[in-house]
Amino acid sequence: LSIPVITIDGPSGAGKGTLGLWLAKALKFHLLESGALYRLSALAAQLLGVDDSDEQQVADISKQLDVSFIPKGDGVAVMLNGQDVSAALRQEDIGMAASRVAAFPSVRSALVECQRNFVKAPGLVADGRDMGSTIFPQAEAKIFLTARAETRADRRMKQLEDAGLAADYDKILADIKARDENDSNRSVSPLVAAPDALVIDSSDLSLDEVYDKALEYIRLKI
Ligand code: C5P
Repeated sequence: LSIPVITIDGPSGAGKGTLGLWLAKALKFHLLESGALYRLSALAAQLLGVDDSDEQQVADISKQLDVSFIPKGDGVAVMLNGQDVSAALRQEDIGMAASRVAAFPSVRSALVECQRNFVKAPGLVADGRDMGSTIFPQAEAKIFLTARAETRADRRMKQLEDAGLAADYDKILADIKARDENDSNRSVSPLVAAPDALVIDSSDLSLDEVYDKALEYIRLKI
């Protein structure tokens, strides 16, 4: 019997993180936030003083990431070498650096196995850009969650403010658009909805409405 996998892909700020967390809790499934792995590669490179444009060195770092995710409060803490780096990972400059290193084919392939190892009983919810299209093409349920760039910028503003981090709307919107551009146009694993994914536009939906739609669809699939 295969272990069920639910994938949630989409651009940054569409609400994948919250939806993934809620679904994983409701179903008691494991959770993989794949974006965190690209952010970790970028952060680890920065900490080691490695230039993130050096594909080979960043790929070597990605292969050796000592990463774990542990439950913390309402979410998960991301641990790098045993240290909680969750706050550092959320910084916009790390997001941008992650988007750059994520375009390197050797970095992506270095992280494939690590991502597939997250599949454990009773099931997995995985969010990212290429979960349904590349990493888990066999997934039982695939969701593509998107929203207008302006709506996503509003949400990111709020997240940063809530975390007590500096936030500038115009810069956030510009970063989101640049990241969309990067993620959609790269040659390996570009951001696209898998043909068999359910597309949900969350621009005019509350989190509860998105969650209800997703759960209704998942119940039909698994
Ligand atoms: O989802 P998050 O914003 O944390 O992801 C950071 C960056 O990592 C994205 O902009 C994207 O370039 C990259 N990423 C990816 N494939 C994934 C998840 C994230 O390329 N599956």
